Amino acid sequence: MSSFCFNRDSIKNNKQKEDDDTMTMVNGYEQSDREKHIKVVDLESLEAEAQKIIPTGAFGYISGGSEDEWTLRQNRKSFTHKQIYPRVLTDVEKPEISTNFMGIDLKTPIMMPPLAAQGLANSQSEKDTARAFAAAGGLMALSTYGSATIADFAKAGNGAPQFFQPYMSKNDDFNKSLLDEAKRNGMKAIILTADSTLGGYREADVINNFQFPIPMANLEKLSQGAGKGQGIAAIYAAAAQKIGPDEIKKIADYTDLPVIVKGIQNPVDAELAIDAGAAAIYVSNHGGRQLNGGPGSFDVLPEIAVAVAKRVPIIFDSGIRHGSDVFKALATGADLVAIGRPFVYALALGGQLGVEDALAEINREFQIVMQLAGTQTIEDVKNTKLADLS
Ligand code: LAC
Repeated sequence: MSSFCFNRDSIKNNKQKEDDDTMTMVNGYEQSDREKHIKVVDLESLEAEAQKIIPTGAFGYISGGSEDEWTLRQNRKSFTHKQIYPRVLTDVEKPEISTNFMGIDLKTPIMMPPLAAQGLANSQSEKDTARAFAAAGGLMALSTYGSATIADFAKAGNGAPQFFQPYMSKNDDFNKSLLDEAKRNGMKAIILTADSTLGGYREADVINNFQFPIPMANLEKLSQGAGKGQGIAAIYAAAAQKIGPDEIKKIADYTDLPVIVKGIQNPVDAELAIDAGAAAIYVSNHGGRQLNGGPGSFDVLPEIAVAVAKRVPIIFDSGIRHGSDVFKALATGADLVAIGRPFVYALALGGQLGVEDALAEINREFQIVMQLAGTQTIEDVKNTKLADLS
């Protein structure tokens, strides 16, 4: 923290943005203000760098999982359970990672998931992440618990494809107003997160007594400054604890938008969601932040892909850090993959430019894997059979 400012405007007015390591004090919270290119060796190494500049409580909230984090660790380990059988006598001269998801053309199969409270990482919050994904032709989703309003998020995306994730509240008028706002601002789909009717037991938050230092912009309709001074457990307590197939249909009817059901880890739920009209299945265990003791997310993808049987597309997340992980997920039935925490670390370290650098790096890694595996399109990757030689 070589230059430390108490007034955000003074930084901007003095054009000190190029000066690295800028920081703003907001409600006693040291919020990164960085906007610069960063060197990204791989996504995993961003965590240690970001830990140096994100205050302890917020870092614990972002990086942590639930209980003893067994499932969080399984999310990484599960990728070692399958291997890529390389082909070599194939044409890989013109690799192409662009793809199409639910009719949307994308320049990368890697999307930004609806990850909450990105203002903890950077004063530009989800706005910078949205700018970066828009610049790279990628897809991003906004969480209800984000630091930016839906309108500001849409404005930052400047026409790029974006999804919205409502956290269903017990207050139905509030739910409707969020969905209206999402629709008004051109969100192309709704991601209904079904695994978060309450929060997982996050020990880091207990140890740090973590409370959000900044409000959650979309909750301000409920009350001024909502979210600020509260922990995630208290915020989740206002969420609906009853989310079933009926909600999927209700949201689809109300918005007339495709509804993607997130948090699926079991073929039974995939089946129920599709029957209720889900437009896509989102396989995720919330980055190991919710139920501890469940399998690594990649370990459940094969059976869910078989159950879904291409009736609807699949998004996959939880544990992807390398190009080879992206490849394995796509080869196992995912149509799109999401990566969360590393992009938030990149946001802290370099704002929009940092996120662009991180996305460029993982795209590059994925493309190298694709070619070395003997494939050159996303379709080729999806048609690759993985080996299980372990
Ligand atoms: C979390 C929620 C807000 O995992 O997605 O903290």
